[in-house]
Amino acid sequence: MAYVKAPGRRLTDGVVTLRLPSAEVGDVDAIVGYVEREQLDGHWLPGIPLVSAEHAIADWLAGWAGYPRSAGPVFVVTVPGAPHFVGVVGSIDRGEGCIEMTYGIAPSWRGRGLASRAARLAAHWALTLPGVTTVELRIAQRHAVSQHVATNAGFVAAGTVTQYVPGTGETFEDLRYILGSQTPMTADSPLGVRTQ
Ligand SMILES: CC(C)(COP(=O)(O)OP(=O)(O)OC[C@H]1O[C@@H](n2cnc3c(N)ncnc32)[C@H](O)[C@@H]1OP(=O)(O)O)[C@@H](O)C(=O)NCCC(=O)NCCS
Repeated sequence: MAYVKAPGRRLTDGVVTLRLPSAEVGDVDAIVGYVEREQLDGHWLPGIPLVSAEHAIADWLAGWAGYPRSAGPVFVVTVPGAPHFVGVVGSIDRGEGCIEMTYGIAPSWRGRGLASRAARLAAHWALTLPGVTTVELRIAQRHAVSQHVATNAGFVAAGTVTQYVPGTGETFEDLRYILGSQTPMTADSPLGVRTQ
């Protein structure tokens, strides 16, 4: 199994920045604000509203400490001019060098290319981790927006993956998109990743 180790610095492409969450820098207020303004559409905030903001952030950080968590280690996404984080990216270790990424953007910040940028940035960072050869996305067949995000971010379609949800007993066949060290780059998927 690859171990997803936190980057020493923030990741940025000049528009979006990915950093670790923190209860110290207003992330609790951000989550409370999203809950109070009913900005939870699409269940984009892992754990919320089932647990408190403090508990969610502790869980996101526990993922970085190597503890198994459903969303894995979670980055928060920031953009210039926003008072708080506007999105999240999770990384789930699927074994055999494969990391699954998930992402979410606050409803009022959608449609500006932020998920596409965040997914590309996080995926290219993950591919620099020792032992990681593939980043995958698992996307519901009806989720056209997320499929656009995948292709915008440079991922390519790679069949389907069957997911079993122990809590409900349901099985889903999601679309699988991958980006790997061997994935051909498209003209609109520049790396553009740097740390700050
Ligand atoms: C999916 C999600 C992350 C997208 O965030 P976003 O920042 O709005 O995404 P982007 O702006 O980068 O890209 C959105 C793409 O969808 C397209 N799009 C928007 N509405 C659409 C629609 N109704 N049908 C088809 N495509 C649509 C946009 O045009 C854009 O694609 P394009 O650049 O090719 O035109 C956001 O809607 C979200 O957080 N949803 C809830 C959580 C979730 O579903 N996460 C994904 C789990 S796999």
